[in-house]
Amino acid sequence: MKFFLDSANLEELKKALDWGVIDGVTTNPSLIAKEGVPVEDQVRRICEIIDGDVSAEVVSTCARDMAAEGRRLARIHRNIVVKVPLGEEGIKAVAALSQDGIRTNVTLCFSAAQALLAAKAGAYIISAFIGRVDDIGWPGMDLIRDIVTIYRNYGYKTQILAASIRGTLDVVDAAKAGAHIGTLPYKVLEQMVKHPLTEKGLAQFMEDHRKAFELVTA
Ligand code: E4P
Repeated sequence: MKFFLDSANLEELKKALDWGVIDGVTTNPSLIAKEGVPVEDQVRRICEIIDGDVSAEVVSTCARDMAAEGRRLARIHRNIVVKVPLGEEGIKAVAALSQDGIRTNVTLCFSAAQALLAAKAGAYIISAFIGRVDDIGWPGMDLIRDIVTIYRNYGYKTQILAASIRGTLDVVDAAKAGAHIGTLPYKVLEQMVKHPLTEKGLAQFMEDHRKAFELVTA
C-alpha cells in the first residue's frame, strides 16, 4: 500500500518525509487555501522536496477549461497528477487529459458508479472519500470494497485511493479492502505508530536494562 500525505503544508511534509514511508502528496483547493499561496507555486515547492506523485486540483468548471488548466498544472513538474472533481464536465476533462497522456486523480468520488465512469475515462487514480461518507451515516469502507471488486472484474488499472481518512482504523480497513493508496493527514500518521503496550513494554525494557547495568557500574 502506498501512503500519500494529505497536506499542502511544507513543514508537515518535511516532518512526514523524515519517516521514510511517504510515497506522494495530495492537495485540494481547501488545503492550498490554508497555505495562502497560489496552487502553481505551492505544488512546485512540494515537488522540489518529494520525488513522488503530487496531486494538484483544477478549479475550472467546464470540461474545456478544466482540461486547459490541467495541461498547465501538468507542465509544472513531471510528478504532477491533475486532480479533477467528479461530474459530467470532470469526466469529459479526464477523458481529454488521458488522451494526451496526462495522469489524473478523479476526486470527490462517493459512489461505485462514479468510480466506474472515472476508470472508463482513463483515470490514473480514483479518490473515494470514506470519511465524508461515514459522516452522513453510510459505511464509507463499503465504497472501497465495491470499487475494488468492480475494477478487478474488468482489470481496470486505475489506482484506488482511500481519501478523507479520519484515523488509524480507516487506514487498516482500507488496506484490508485492497485500496492501493491511503492519503493520510499528518496526525493520522502519528497515531498509527502508537500503541499503549508498545510504550509500556519499552518502559519496562529500559528499566530492566538500567537496573542490570547502570546500577552495577555505579
Ligand atoms: C484527498 O485527496 C482529499 O482531498 C482529502 O482526503 C479530503 O479529506 P477531508 O474529507 O478530511 O477534507
